Amino acid sequence: MKLIAINGSPRNNWNTGKLLDKVLEGAKSENAEVELVNLYDLEYQGCVSCFRCKRKDKKHGKCAMKDDLTPILEKLKEVDAIIFGSPIYFSAVSSGMSAFLERFLFSNMIYSNEIPTVFPKKIPSAFIYTMNITKEQMKEYGMEEKLKIFQYYIYRILGKKSELLYAYNTYQFKDYDKYESSMFSKEEKIISKNEQFPIDCKKAFEIGINIVKSANK
Ligand SMILES: Cc1cc2nc3c(=O)[nH]c(=O)nc-3n(C[C@H](O)[C@H](O)[C@H](O)COP(=O)(O)O)c2cc1C
Repeated sequence: MKLIAINGSPRNNWNTGKLLDKVLEGAKSENAEVELVNLYDLEYQGCVSCFRCKRKDKKHGKCAMKDDLTPILEKLKEVDAIIFGSPIYFSAVSSGMSAFLERFLFSNMIYSNEIPTVFPKKIPSAFIYTMNITKEQMKEYGMEEKLKIFQYYIYRILGKKSELLYAYNTYQFKDYDKYESSMFSKEEKIISKNEQFPIDCKKAFEIGINIVKSANK
C-alpha cells in the first residue's frame, strides 16, 4: 500500500508539514510505504489551458506540461491514497496547492456528464487545512462552505469523499514579540500551540491509520 502526502505550505516543517508528518507516521505504523512531496521545493506552473488532456486523439488523464510536477502527477496514478495539506491564504488554499490542484484535477477530468473522472482508480484521500482563525471564526466567515468546492472536485476525481482535518488558531511565528501581530493574543496562541496542536497531531496520526485501513479494504 503506497500513500503520498502533498504539502502546499512554503514552510516545510511548520504546522501543515508537521501534521502531514503525523499522518505519514500513522500510515507507516500500518506498514504503508509513504512519500512526502513539498510543493514549494518544485518548479511548476498552474494549468495553462492547453486542453491537450481533453483532446479526443490524445490519452486522457495526462497533463501535457513538462516541469517538476510531471513525475508527481504520474506517480499519483499509482498510489493507494493521497493526503493534501495546505495553509489557508486569504480564505483559500495556498497558490502552490491551487496550481497543483489545477493540474492534477483538470487533467483527470473531461467534459463529459457520463465520465466524471479519467483517474485510473478509486482511492481514499484526506485534506488538512491549517489557519489562523478559530473554529468559531471559521463558522462565522462561512469558510467551510468556501472550501467545499475543493472537496467536491477531489470526490469527483478520486471517487471517494476526503477525510478532513481543520487545524485552527495555529502558531505562526517563532517569536510573536518580533512581529506586529496585535490582532492576536500571544497567550491564546501559546495555549493553542501547547494544548490544541498536539490534539490535531493525534487526529492526523489517526487519519494515517484509517486511510491505510480504508485503502486496504
Ligand atoms: C499570505 C498569507 C495569507 C494568510 N491568510 C489567512 C487567512 O485568510 N485566514 C487564516 O485563517 N489564516 C491565514 N494565514 C495564516 C496561515 O494560514 C496559518 O498561519 C497557517 O497555519 C500557516 O501554515 P504553515 O505553518 O504550514 O506555514 C495566512 C498566512 C499567509 C502567509
